[in-house]
Amino acid sequence: METPLNVAVLVGSLRKDAYSRKIAHILIDLAPATLDCRIVEIDDLPLYTEDLDSAPPAPWVRFRAEIQRADAVLFVTPEYNRSIPGGLKNAIDVGSRPPYHSVWDGLPTGVISISPYKIGGFGANHHVRQSLVFLNMPVMQQPEAYLTEVAAMLNEQGTLVSPDSRQFLTKVILSFAAWVQTFGAARQRKAA
Ligand code: FNR
Repeated sequence: METPLNVAVLVGSLRKDAYSRKIAHILIDLAPATLDCRIVEIDDLPLYTEDLDSAPPAPWVRFRAEIQRADAVLFVTPEYNRSIPGGLKNAIDVGSRPPYHSVWDGLPTGVISISPYKIGGFGANHHVRQSLVFLNMPVMQQPEAYLTEVAAMLNEQGTLVSPDSRQFLTKVILSFAAWVQTFGAARQRKAA
């Protein structure tokens, strides 16, 4: 069997009991053996400023190295004020610099947004996508994943209560696996 593709999962919420983190874990559990998914933490990244580019803080170096090792990136994020939570935008910015050394370049990606409410984080989802265009990250188009009323989707143990949700999230992660396969396999060949 081929080496599984290394998928960096970025969770947009820094909250300990975040629904987005629970959904990220469910997606990781549902992922096929062709993907090796792990959450890359973003909560220790100092706010990006060009002033620190000459002596990057250790968490920036760690984060950039983890993304550099990845074959693909999966964003699982809530929406803050109809946009991207600040911590996630900071992580995107940290990875994009210094100029011409972005660790994001060419990585295939997917975006899943969540919300306890009815719009499913549509605004956050598309604001992430806006950055991905500039960062040259081919993003999975379908299925779109705006998870609405996420609190009702999970029980106290953080597992899915309905087979329909499980079926949908399985479809999302299998589609993502197919999406990254072409790009990721090409990257692995290039690196070999
Ligand atoms: C929110 N929330 C929210 N929800 C939403 O659907 N659209 C929005 O624009 C916002 N805006 C917003 C701003 C801020 C600052 C906070 C703290 C929260 C509610 C949000 O969806 C809810 O707190 C989720 O539980 C956050 O996701 P996690 O942390 O559970 O993953």
